Parts: sequence; structure tokens; C-alpha cells
Amino acid sequence: MLLHTELHALQTSLQYLQNRLGGPHPDLLIVAGSGFADALPPLLDAQKLSFKEIPGFPPTTVQGHDGELILGNFQGPGSARSSRIAILRGRVHLYEGHSPAAVVHPLRTLIQWGCSRVVLTNAAGSLHKEWSAGSFMLINDHINGTGHTPLLGAYRQGLAGPMFLDMTAAYDKAWLQAWRSTAERLNIKIQEGVYLGVLGPCYETPAEVRAFQKWGADAVGMSTVLETIAARHLGARICALSLLSNAAAGLISNHTLDHQEVLAESQRAEKTFARLMAEVLPSLLA
Ligand code: HPA
Repeated sequence: MLLHTELHALQTSLQYLQNRLGGPHPDLLIVAGSGFADALPPLLDAQKLSFKEIPGFPPTTVQGHDGELILGNFQGPGSARSSRIAILRGRVHLYEGHSPAAVVHPLRTLIQWGCSRVVLTNAAGSLHKEWSAGSFMLINDHINGTGHTPLLGAYRQGLAGPMFLDMTAAYDKAWLQAWRSTAERLNIKIQEGVYLGVLGPCYETPAEVRAFQKWGADAVGMSTVLETIAARHLGARICALSLLSNAAAGLISNHTLDHQEVLAESQRAEKTFARLMAEVLPSLLA
């Protein structure tokens, strides 16, 4: 690969966004994963761009992941101040055949613009039989089981950020507390734990699920970890929420997994998620 390829692609995407959208950089970015696409906070004066029209942005191919960037103003309940929020509605995954750099490209572009707060969402399989489908899990740490990293070659390509990135407290501690107290105030049950990111696209075997439980993971999914690494590398604050759309393979006898089930469960949880998000945002923007 040529030196500075990714940096050049980022600059191209960023210039396009700045020209098309104008105004100051977003204050906060939400990445809306599978099934979260319609559970977004209400934005005023929203502008929308398809991933397809943004040079350098990768095309999405998965149902439930449309690929759209939305930018608009958010006014918190009872707040006089409005903030600029960007939403990546849909994301791309390694399993679609994209490189790690392509997977994090949209997020990196927005952080390069100056957006230094990121909220990631995803659907994940629960590794605890007793955590019911449709409940939420706040990610307090992760295991990168994808075998990939967006930092491979990043330093050589001129991206700012440390080569040997510290990941001790990747998920912002103060923000974790904000989610906990918001969920408690709204009486929404929220689990907390370790997200294991895998390559996919097949779901796990029951033997893998038993192994992952022993590793100390609480949920398993096919996204998020690369984005967290890329965001921390560029110094952004980050938090992430999983919708536990199903019990992982083999935990419930005679039950098999499919993508429609994952989408349906996410859709059922949409209203609750939208409420939680709208209420927590003012703390994340403070
Ligand atoms: N495994 C991996 N990824 C997932 C799952 C799962 O069970 N559910 C939703 N995304």
C-alpha cells in the first residue's frame, strides 16, 4: 500500500463533508448499528447524505445497515442550548470484505473534523442465559477477537496518535456512570459487561460460546471493537451500548440463530433505546 493512502482518503471525505454540510464540527457522533437505525434522538434541521455520495466512504451491503450520515441539532429535555449531533446510520463490517481501515473510515473522518465524543451501538448475542433477549448491556471493556486492528500501518500512514495505544480505560468511566444513573432514573434495566468482537459472519458454535464465557466475555458481536480502538487512537471519548438481541448459540436448547431474529428484537427495543439515548445525551454533551 502507498504511504499516506488512508490519510489522503480521510482528507478527501472530510473536505467533501465540510463543503456539503458547512458549519462547525459535530459535538458528538452516534454510530447506529443493526436495528438501531430508527431509534435515534430527534434532530432539528437534519441534513442527510448517503454513504454512496461521500467520496472515500465504503458502501454498506447488509440489511438493517443503510449507510447514511445525518447531521442535525439536538436540544436536550429542558435545555436551552442545542448541540450538533452526527449519526452514522448503518456501518460496514470486516465480514463484508472491508479492510479494518474502511470499517473505521466514517468514524475517523468525523473525529478528524473535530468531533471528539462518540457513542457506539450494536446488537450482540448474550453469553448469559439469564440475560433476556431485548435487554441492554453497557460495554465496560472489550476483547478484540477479530484478529484485526485499524492501527496496522496507521502510524506509517501519517495518522496522528500513539503507535502503542493504552487501552486500560477505553470506555469512558464518567460516561458509564451517566448511563447507569440515567437508566436507573428511567427505571430501565441495563446490564454491564465485556463485549467480545468477532469476525463473523457466521454465528458462533456452542463450543465457541463456552470458550468465550471462560474468557470473561458477557456478550459477543461482529462490530464495535475496531471503532473503539480507532476512536481512542485519535483521542475521542467513547461509550458503547449493546442490545442483547438473542442468547448466544447453544445456550437455549433447540434454538438456532438468524439475522431476522436479531433485527426483530432490536426493533422491539427501539422505543426504550430512543428514550434512554435522548435522556443520557445532555450528560455526554456537558
Ligand atoms: N453472535 C455474534 N454476533 C451477533 C449475535 C450473536 O449471537 N447476535 C447479534 N450479533
